[in-house]
Amino acid sequence: MTESVFELAPKTEPERQYYFMENASVLIKKREEKVGHHLSFHVTTFGCQMNAKDSEKMTGILTKLGLDEVAEETAADIVLFNTCTIRDNANQKFYGHLGTLNGKNHKNKNRIVAVCGCMMQEKTCVEKLKSSYGFVNIIFGTHNIYKLAELICLYLEKNENVIDVWDKPADIVEDIPAVRKYPFKSGVNIMYGCNNYCTYCIVPYVRGNERSRDAKEIIRECEKLAAEGVKEVMLLGQNVNSYGNRLRNSIGFPELLREVEKVNGIERIRFMTSHPKDLSDELIEVMKASSKICKHIHLPLQSGSTRILKAMNRCYTGEQYLDLALRIRKELPDTAITTDIIVGFPGETEEDVNDTIDMIRQVKYEGAFTFIYSPRTGTPAASMPGRQSKEWIKREFDRVLKAVQDESRLMAGRFLDNVEKVLVEEMNEQDDKLVTGRMSNNLMVHFPGDSSLIGKLVDVKLTEYRGFYYMGRIV
Ligand code: 5AD
Ligand code: SF4
Repeated sequence: MTESVFELAPKTEPERQYYFMENASVLIKKREEKVGHHLSFHVTTFGCQMNAKDSEKMTGILTKLGLDEVAEETAADIVLFNTCTIRDNANQKFYGHLGTLNGKNHKNKNRIVAVCGCMMQEKTCVEKLKSSYGFVNIIFGTHNIYKLAELICLYLEKNENVIDVWDKPADIVEDIPAVRKYPFKSGVNIMYGCNNYCTYCIVPYVRGNERSRDAKEIIRECEKLAAEGVKEVMLLGQNVNSYGNRLRNSIGFPELLREVEKVNGIERIRFMTSHPKDLSDELIEVMKASSKICKHIHLPLQSGSTRILKAMNRCYTGEQYLDLALRIRKELPDTAITTDIIVGFPGETEEDVNDTIDMIRQVKYEGAFTFIYSPRTGTPAASMPGRQSKEWIKREFDRVLKAVQDESRLMAGRFLDNVEKVLVEEMNEQDDKLVTGRMSNNLMVHFPGDSSLIGKLVDVKLTEYRGFYYMGRIV
């Protein structure tokens, strides 16, 4: 490709990217002739549903280039890592993978290594890759994943490493090909970024400010997915309850749910994540009236202590959260509530943890993710005083975990003997006579069946509760 090919590229998106997909596939073919074999790729995804969705888009692009997906990271000619930086252990996990990839058995001199995602939005991470992981060829961030074909073109054409990380998001670019991991369910981005600036959280810095997608575009995507056989959509955003707040003349989240409900073929609707400060009574009403919205709300608590919540900039008190959770319990009694909790936030005391445990005992979550606070560079909490010792945090973490486990064992077990609609997702990993499916309330159930059931909604009687999951049989 010559300079003029870059000059000839359309200026508007997504046309520009389709142009580069064509050009990149020509360059890939040339490379295949040179190396004497068909080229393959592997995408490794760390982190949340947003990253999973981004990886599906990038898998779509790589497939469009004529590359075959392979299961083994080490066997691929193009290896792409989509990184997460929510807590430091996510970063460490990624560096571990990179080390393994470049381990002693590595023979493929022509391999291309690309890294993108949240970690790359941090300057120190990019510097570290440049200084210690020189074999990484392409680096980009969260805002330009749709440009993967263009970046591959640049790399192949110039034979130089490419770094393209944007400080800020530009326009939302959609209509890029995607290859979905599951044919029967799909995430749908309804908004990007976050404006809440919880003091511990790096997301607003690496994912940018909050931007909602146009409702018509979202509905169009849901209709397209339904036509392709998707039965369950998960509406994705860092704070879905503020959907549309910053768009002129936009509908809000409850109205959006009503519109998605009208899409024929979509049988289940999930959403993630709800910020408690923005969860409205209208949403509860919409959920009550709906036959498609799943009976599950993920409602991150973070802490039960009003003092710590204030320091976290969560914009609600313990009392307000409890009031909301109990209202959900009353109005939507079959709905499972799950949460996220952080232990070891700067300045947290045993009393604060007691407040968190009190909350767990009152809300009785069906499930909770419990995290140890991890300081993230550039966030306000990272420079707050009052960090507790490792031993203190471990002890308090265990207390919280025990409360979560006690309550969730009872609460998640309350569905025993019910007949529930289950979407069959996969064959059971341990026993090939069983399939594994998900109920509306997000709990899992294993029951006898074969692969022909995958992607189907079936009625299952819950015959045995095994702590966090069920065994059952089709009725
Ligand atoms: N340390 C620990 N946990 C964190 N989370 C976000 N940032 C941090 C951090 N710095 C947790 C929150 C959030 C979930 C996705 O990750 O509980 O809800
Ligand atoms: Fe992070 Fe808070 Fe935004 Fe969630 S709402 S992504 S915890 S800043």
